[in-house]
Amino acid sequence: MALIIDGKKISTEIKEELREEVAALKEKGVEITLAVIQVGNDPASSIYVRNKKTACEYIGIKSLSYELPENTTEKELLDLIKELNANSKVNGILVQLPLPKHINEELVINTIDPSKDVDGFHPQSVGALSIGQKGFLSCTPAGIIQLLKRSGISIAGKECVVIGRSNIVGKPMALLMLREDATVTICHSKTKDLKEVAKRADILIVAIGKPKFISSEFVKEGAVVIDVGIHRDENNKLCGDVDYEDVLPKVSAITPVPGGVGPMTIAMLMYNCLQSAR
Ligand code: GUN
Repeated sequence: MALIIDGKKISTEIKEELREEVAALKEKGVEITLAVIQVGNDPASSIYVRNKKTACEYIGIKSLSYELPENTTEKELLDLIKELNANSKVNGILVQLPLPKHINEELVINTIDPSKDVDGFHPQSVGALSIGQKGFLSCTPAGIIQLLKRSGISIAGKECVVIGRSNIVGKPMALLMLREDATVTICHSKTKDLKEVAKRADILIVAIGKPKFISSEFVKEGAVVIDVGIHRDENNKLCGDVDYEDVLPKVSAITPVPGGVGPMTIAMLMYNCLQSAR
């Protein structure tokens, strides 16, 4: 029987630990503040932002909410970020992505003070990760490491295949698995014979953004499968990048969608806010 990795339960454990730590800091007079910026009202972004604010409230982190209109100029957004950079009461700054097309996302990320980069997207954070220095970790990959560790799955020496090379998930994921002493392969749209490469994996991490793309033909018997995708299928039901039902009989452990990787992203964002205050 495969282990179904319960991201909801593990994320709750982490949030409980953080809540205690935040309470202890409050006793010492330290308050943690996260600034959350959303530009426009993309419905998916609105849900993510709301969930992030709810998590802050639960843990005891103060959230400052900036809901800016779609036609906000790049300069207005950059000015707000600079103001928050300079505000010593603000520990973390989160700009929800994607941004409207007229705003340069890279410039926005680069403007956030690296000491407040709780998303771990700033080049300094990514650079620190790549050379093993301290810095903020991108939340979804950091959450996946926690899922594996807290499920008793060892990483060192394992063959890990990451499918997807985005700056937010694939690349930092590969770097983190390398830091945990896995042997890491990154696959992408130009990879020849993806099935054969994926089948090498002891731990297969899928972040390609295609619903139910990974069938049992991509999976080695006994592999651990981590599914980062989230989509609606033809019946309007949530599904991942992995064809869960097809793959399940073959794996030793798997993350479901929903309730796998998703809840971990916010837990790790909260972790990063605390790290910023520490
Ligand atoms: N959009 C999708 N995921 C994320 C995330 O983790 N952080 C931010 N800021 N935007 C996102």
